Amino acid sequence: MAGTRTFTMIKPDAFEAGNAGAILKMIEAAGFKIVALKATRLSPELAGKFYEVHSERPFYKDLCNYMSSGAIIAAILEKENAVEDFRNLIGATNPANAAEGTIRKIFAKSIEANAVHGSDSDENAAIEGSFFFNQYERVG
Ligand code: CMP
Repeated sequence: MAGTRTFTMIKPDAFEAGNAGAILKMIEAAGFKIVALKATRLSPELAGKFYEVHSERPFYKDLCNYMSSGAIIAAILEKENAVEDFRNLIGATNPANAAEGTIRKIFAKSIEANAVHGSDSDENAAIEGSFFFNQYERVG
């Protein structure tokens, strides 16, 4: 059975552009409940740790620099079938390929500055949520 939680970050491009509120509004309107939320800023080292699975990819260093270039919002979200439904809401990684009406289609600037992150599996959702939040920082 699909899990009920996923993890997201609103990335520096969207935060800096003042789009965090509009994105959170779309997330809630799509039926996701926010169970943890914080504004923070990653160091390059922490960004490197978060994206460690991509460490062999050519874009890894740029991605870590970019993700530590400004403030972000981290959140844990709850909904039936959370991971898949959230990935449908945000659209393809490259905004050029994202469907109309998706968060990345509306707000993303490029494949790197793509407005939001969404977990790709239930297992990673749990790992990524625990990267940012302890048990006292979550509702329920
Ligand atoms: P995200 O969903 O956060 O997961 C990994 C991130 O790496 C991805 O969004 C993009 O921001 C970035 N990314 C993935 N593919 C590329 C690419 N080909 N070039 C640059 N950045 C990429």
